[in-house]
Amino acid sequence: MKVLVVGNGGREHALAWKLLQSKQIEQVVCVPGNGGTASMERCQNLPLAVDDFEGISRYAHAHGITLVIVGPEVPLSKGITDYLQDKGLMVFGPIRAGAQIEASKAWAKALMQEAGIATARTAVFAEAGAAKSYVRATGAPIVVKADGLAAGKGVIMAETVEQAESAVDAIFQGQFGSAGEFVVIEECLIGQEVSILALTDGLTIRSLLPSQDHKRIGDGDMGENTGGMGAYAPAPIATPELMARIQTEVLERAIATLRAKGIDYRGTLYAGLMILPNGDFKVLEFNCRFGDPETQVILPLLETPLEELLLACVQQRLSELPPIAWKEGVCATVVAASGGYPGEYEKGQVITGIREAEKAGVTVFHAGTKLNQQQEVVTDGGRVLNVTGIGENFEQAIAQAYAGIKCIQFEGIYYRRDIGHRVVSGKR
Ligand code: AMP
Ligand code: GLY
Repeated sequence: MKVLVVGNGGREHALAWKLLQSKQIEQVVCVPGNGGTASMERCQNLPLAVDDFEGISRYAHAHGITLVIVGPEVPLSKGITDYLQDKGLMVFGPIRAGAQIEASKAWAKALMQEAGIATARTAVFAEAGAAKSYVRATGAPIVVKADGLAAGKGVIMAETVEQAESAVDAIFQGQFGSAGEFVVIEECLIGQEVSILALTDGLTIRSLLPSQDHKRIGDGDMGENTGGMGAYAPAPIATPELMARIQTEVLERAIATLRAKGIDYRGTLYAGLMILPNGDFKVLEFNCRFGDPETQVILPLLETPLEELLLACVQQRLSELPPIAWKEGVCATVVAASGGYPGEYEKGQVITGIREAEKAGVTVFHAGTKLNQQQEVVTDGGRVLNVTGIGENFEQAIAQAYAGIKCIQFEGIYYRRDIGHRVVSGKR
């Protein structure tokens, strides 16, 4: 099989890396890929934009691509799957109607209500005055969200009514682009987050190992929200009992309701959950894709060949497969970011020490990197590398990831020192 992976993050590097471990996979092409995907054997980058559907289709037909796997939400929400399927290609990732589950928070909330899925108390507004009256009546802390895609920046956790009111104004003034046509206001939930990534063929849905991300930029979960600064799997907070409830009360309900709306959703359904102090849970959000960096800690533990699972989703025969097989052990990843992220940062810094890190036993997934003209790996984004350790227990996996990241240098490198603080104690 030849597979084309759309995207350029750590998630896509991990997908390509996992696929290439299978004898069934002859070649992986990444559009546009990064410095890591450019450096793997049997893997190459194709410099097209992720929304150049016509270019991707033409390449796929000319080069005998069997399966297209779409990483990011933006092309999915623009209908890449609809387009490529129309051209006769097999695509893993939901059609545009399904991608609304991530592309519109208001739409996703309505679906959760219809499906009877537990979620935070919510109100949706199309106009600032009413939204602000609601904020004043409800009080703070309160969560204000732009409706549409905002590259992870559209959620404001307001500590005061004033902060919430300015967030409402900022959203309606278009600071989040077209993400700001509606504002979603939610009660602020307290608890521990867990990411449940599940694969579905539209009828059957099977979850992957539960994982936990670290959204905030700073140690102790302080500071701004980011795309994710580190992760580990399997997350012990998601006990087998909880996973069984999530299966029936979240995943199966979501798929059944999508189907009832006439949406044949095939791809990854990612539920971001808050586990409340009393052990109950509420869904914070759905995503229509693999999580990043969650994928980088799930795939190293996957035993079943990835392409078998993804093809079964596309061909709607997931129920025929045996249960998904996992390796023993646990996995943790630490994100090395550019100084200044999630704000302004510089690009083009030369990265050294990746080989040494790999010798220390870690797997380094590239995110915001590229090769420069001298074929050196340089920084090219906010989240730069995912330094990933595997072990019998979290002490080992996390210690390995930190031993690896210490080998790596670039100007301004920043990483959290406390990834996995809920499963091991102490800073690294
Ligand atoms: P979302 O894109 O809706 O998942 O929001 C991004 C992040 O904001 C989540 O991963 C949480 O850390 C936080 N968040 C969102 N909604 C809430 C809420 N209702 N209560 C507390 N935290 C939230
Ligand atoms: N790590 C969070 C996300 O992928 O949305």
